[in-house]
Amino acid sequence: MRQNIIIDTDPGQDDAVAILLALASPELEVLGITCVAGNVPLTKTIYNARQICELSGKIKTPIFAGCDRPMRRDLTTAEHVHGKTGLDGVTLPEPKIKIETTHAVDFIIETLRASPSKSITLCPLGPLTNIGTALKKAPDIADRVQKIVLMGGAYFEVGNITPAAEFNIYVDPEAAEIVFKSGIELIVAPLDVTHKVLTNNEWVSELKTQDNYICNVVAAWTSFFERFDTEKYGTQGAPLHDPCVIAYLIDPDLFAGRSINVEIETKSKLTRGMTVADWWGVTDRSINALFLNNVDAIGYFKLITDRLRKL
Ligand code: BDR
Ligand code: CA
Repeated sequence: MRQNIIIDTDPGQDDAVAILLALASPELEVLGITCVAGNVPLTKTIYNARQICELSGKIKTPIFAGCDRPMRRDLTTAEHVHGKTGLDGVTLPEPKIKIETTHAVDFIIETLRASPSKSITLCPLGPLTNIGTALKKAPDIADRVQKIVLMGGAYFEVGNITPAAEFNIYVDPEAAEIVFKSGIELIVAPLDVTHKVLTNNEWVSELKTQDNYICNVVAAWTSFFERFDTEKYGTQGAPLHDPCVIAYLIDPDLFAGRSINVEIETKSKLTRGMTVADWWGVTDRSINALFLNNVDAIGYFKLITDRLRKL
């Protein structure tokens, strides 16, 4: 059966690959793409989402503008990773498709209220501002969400924007706290799993040599964002974070993890946005997330290539 999903995103090259993977997959029905400020400011994430949809050819996918800043903080962006546009690496044409007039938060609320309960999965790939704001504005929707599969957080891998925190959770910890306390079934793809899906020369070369423009574009994006991570981590490739969310929905058997309690640090300056994960079960706090920590990386990259080639 097709799964109905809403992708909440701040594209970003890895968000872009995730969106393309979803749009290429018959198992998933993308009801809408909701944009949020994150990797780059909101105007750019909207522009990038329009470019990505146009590139995919699925131009009827509705795109919504969401929150332009975190719930209670100034925006932190990540141009140092993704470039000035957020999608540096290749020049795409100016997109023609228009965005919807409804605010992303209202789209999320209205769609959940109008659909059968537990029939929609939310897929956040950026800071959780839109989802946190929707849950604050309309607490009744929590019972209607089927599940949330999100990219964010870290435990053993600790942090990538500060020594203690992963970017998406760091940017809007208050929104993350709302989501992690919502009681909604949560599947979390933290750095512990995304650092196991490092891009590599063979994969990028395979994409470059495909007679398929989308594969060639993904190769160019990958080559761009790799430069930062390869320098930082001293690895051959860079983590392809966000497609983990979509790959999990398509083939959860690619992944392994543990059901645990995860709380968000919002108070400390030093550890703001840390996902405090009770991996060893040392507290009696109740389980609220399936926290992924392992992945079949070969299967993951094969899934992405196979699907992208079909677009
Ligand atoms: C996350 O931060 C962003 O830069 C990526 O798009 C990903 O969602 C990784 O920490
Ligand atoms: Ca992202």
